[in-house]
Amino acid sequence: MEITVILSQENETLPKAELIARLETLEISYEITQEYPGVLSFKTDATDDEILKLGEHLGYTHEILKSITTTLPEQLQESIETINWEDHINGTFKVRVKRMGNGDVDKDSIERNIGGYIKQQTNADVNLDNSDTTVKLVYTDPKTQTNEFKEERVVGYNKVIITTQLIEQDKKHFFDNKPHKRPYFHPGSMSPKLALCMVNLAHTKENDTVLDPFCGTGGILIEAGDLNTRLIGSDIEKCMYEGSKLNLAHEGFDDFEIHWEDVRKLNLDEKVDAVAMDPPYGISTTLGGDDTKQLYTEALNSIAQYIKDDGYICMASPHYIDLYEVVDNTPLTIKEQHEIRMHKSLTRIITVLTK
Ligand SMILES: C[S@@+](CC[C@H](N)C(=O)[O-])C[C@H]1O[C@@H](n2cnc3c(N)ncnc32)[C@H](O)[C@@H]1O
Repeated sequence: MEITVILSQENETLPKAELIARLETLEISYEITQEYPGVLSFKTDATDDEILKLGEHLGYTHEILKSITTTLPEQLQESIETINWEDHINGTFKVRVKRMGNGDVDKDSIERNIGGYIKQQTNADVNLDNSDTTVKLVYTDPKTQTNEFKEERVVGYNKVIITTQLIEQDKKHFFDNKPHKRPYFHPGSMSPKLALCMVNLAHTKENDTVLDPFCGTGGILIEAGDLNTRLIGSDIEKCMYEGSKLNLAHEGFDDFEIHWEDVRKLNLDEKVDAVAMDPPYGISTTLGGDDTKQLYTEALNSIAQYIKDDGYICMASPHYIDLYEVVDNTPLTIKEQHEIRMHKSLTRIITVLTK
């Protein structure tokens, strides 16, 4: 089957990288068939259940859809009429148009007309609030026109992907999980969405042991714990050591151990499957970041002793630290890097490393 995924457009590369990492972790086959801003389609021989599992723990994926066919906007009605809708509608249904970008599309009349046609073909009832099946028409691949002032404008679309919806991401998880709602809060806490993305980039799977040696308030460990993992955290500050334990217990986790320790003196009894971490950025202008580079080098050398040979490390760092230089003095290699622009003077780099 072909799956179409609607990705967040808040970052150019992370949403796709997270999805691919999760596909690899779950050993789901994929061959990318179409790619537009915010949309990616792939062929897979996965079962519906495997795709539902894929959708369970993704930070930057909004929707997962089952593609029926791809057509041109001007041939939409014709394509709709070639589909055997009995095969795709279970129970009540509704039709929804999703526009990627701001091209002109008469959403209401398309939804009404196509909905009317499907109703006539299947006798299924329409339910606009709580339908069993949602037919999603994804208008993608914006068609642009350049005016006399050489300005480019989206005037319509080149493609419509006709799909049924499998999963719509529940935004409530990230809302309920906001760091300030936890018993222990510190302003340096990472957003749950990015924390989950990093856990996924570290190829974390169920029953893994996950380490965050700069655990702070426990934000990354909380997201990893939702994947049913064993958690190991550590932090140099006693308040973080106490606070992260409080937060993890509050989330209902019990399979965790937190150490009050400097990462450079980490002493674990076991090797871990994945590491996700957000070390301090500690900008020291006099040393030009040399102290931070040294901390990162020593931290990565310490962690390298505890990560399994096939394990992944995902770390966040500021743009002014050259991680390639850091990694040169460790047994690790950089697999990929992504940029998140925080504000004018800070870009966060998310790096995935392996042994
Ligand atoms: C940016 S914060 C991590 C925030 C965390 N991800 C969260 O969601 O709360 C960095 C943490 O590293 C800790 N830290 C700094 N130097 C350390 C070291 N040498 N060893 C271990 N932890 C250290 C700090 O106490 C701080 O809690």
